[in-house]
Amino acid sequence: MKNTVNIGVIGLGGRGQGQMREMLNCEGVKVIAVCDKYEDRALEGQRIVAEKAGNSPHVYTDYKQLLTRKDIDAILCCSTWITHGRIAVDSMRAGKHVAIEVGGAASIEECWQMVRASEETGKFCMLLENCCYDRNEMALFNMVKQGIFGEIIHMQGGYQHDLRDEICLGRENRHGRLFNFQHRNGELYPTHQLGPISKVLGINRGNRFISLSSMTTKSRGLHEWIVKNKGEDYDLADYSFNQGDVTTTMIKCANGETVVLTHDCSLPRPYSRGYRIQGTKGIYQEDCDGIFIEGMSYVDPNDWAHQFEHFVDNGYREKYEHPLWKKYAVDGIHAGGHGGMDYLVLSAFIESVRLEDKPPIDVYDTAAWMAVTALSEQSIALGSAPVPFPDFTNGMWIDREPYRRGIFCLDEVCNDYFENAGV
Ligand SMILES: NC(=O)c1ccc[n+]([C@@H]2O[C@H](COP(=O)([O-])OP(=O)(O)OC[C@H]3O[C@@H](n4cnc5c(N)ncnc54)[C@H](O)[C@@H]3O)[C@@H](O)[C@H]2O)c1
Repeated sequence: MKNTVNIGVIGLGGRGQGQMREMLNCEGVKVIAVCDKYEDRALEGQRIVAEKAGNSPHVYTDYKQLLTRKDIDAILCCSTWITHGRIAVDSMRAGKHVAIEVGGAASIEECWQMVRASEETGKFCMLLENCCYDRNEMALFNMVKQGIFGEIIHMQGGYQHDLRDEICLGRENRHGRLFNFQHRNGELYPTHQLGPISKVLGINRGNRFISLSSMTTKSRGLHEWIVKNKGEDYDLADYSFNQGDVTTTMIKCANGETVVLTHDCSLPRPYSRGYRIQGTKGIYQEDCDGIFIEGMSYVDPNDWAHQFEHFVDNGYREKYEHPLWKKYAVDGIHAGGHGGMDYLVLSAFIESVRLEDKPPIDVYDTAAWMAVTALSEQSIALGSAPVPFPDFTNGMWIDREPYRRGIFCLDEVCNDYFENAGV
């Protein structure tokens, strides 16, 4: 394992700055180059590294210049949804491993380009899907692997987050979301729940997505927010946004399961990823923190309806805590961004770079999860017609080479790796 790896960071908006700060908490990281097309943000990145780590990384405004450097091992890319793919491809072709922040693909071709670049260069591309490392998601994964839910039949999830101000003020704040909502119409942000869902369903490892169909509503939320907050004279007050307020996508899997995804970011509502796992023995539903397992959950014989128990309050999460979270507690939870899952996903990436070995989320996962956006746009444009899902593994999903086991593994709970970790 390399003691220290040299990292270049591309994209230093709010997320890039936060992720870079978080990454500097991981062992063996040195940030030696920072880049944003806005020079002030790149300079802010340089300042953050100097403050946290004491070195002064070189500043770039053209990421292709940064990629010419031979001393960079890997790239952390936190740019916009429509630039992640090309920056990932250019990074791998320049001989660097790459991690990209989440978002959907603009085209299916973009996904193939990432797959080919990784296969041809031997460099990996890891989508930084932090929700795969969330405490609840990991405990639930542990339960699935112990067979508590029985055979999995159906799953749901979504990105349900009131982002009206962030979207509508995109020009003032130089933020990337606005133009996607102006010009596109689809499941724009699929991966937060699709990541954990895919790992439960064994997508690309014995299972795969075969088709999807998307439907979307009319668009009203952003218009109403703009009129109320910016006034009738604001230049976007009459803008007709393409993106529907609530987009629903159904995906069919080769092994017979279905997945429903919801994208819901332009209406008033509390945050939820609406996770649901349903199998032959029981169900979990995030929105009421509810769990019901036949033969395990309390059943009142006089209540025909059956009641959910609480996943957290009734002790299920504690009982099935994933050993990575137990270790995290023993080590002293550092709880940076999003309750700790940002630190864990970045630690997983850095471990793979230091080992020069397979990441827990690989280029096939990245391509399949991101592809949902481009496919849902096609489906909606075709009146919700089902569209076929490409097999980015070219058949390897049936008989893949083994994944790398370890503490950050997302395909199995590798208890043996935690035996000496005090958990
Ligand atoms: N995983 C999470 O929990 C989480 C949370 C927030 C944001 N994100 C994701 O992180 C990404 C960044 O989010 P943000 O809020 O910082 O967005 P942002 O639009 O504010 O920042 C993106 C930055 O990338 C830069 N950029 C774009 N193209 C570039 C290029 N070719 N070369 C150099 N720099 C370039 C932009 O100038 C900008 O500063 C998005 O994909 C977002 O969806 C993920």
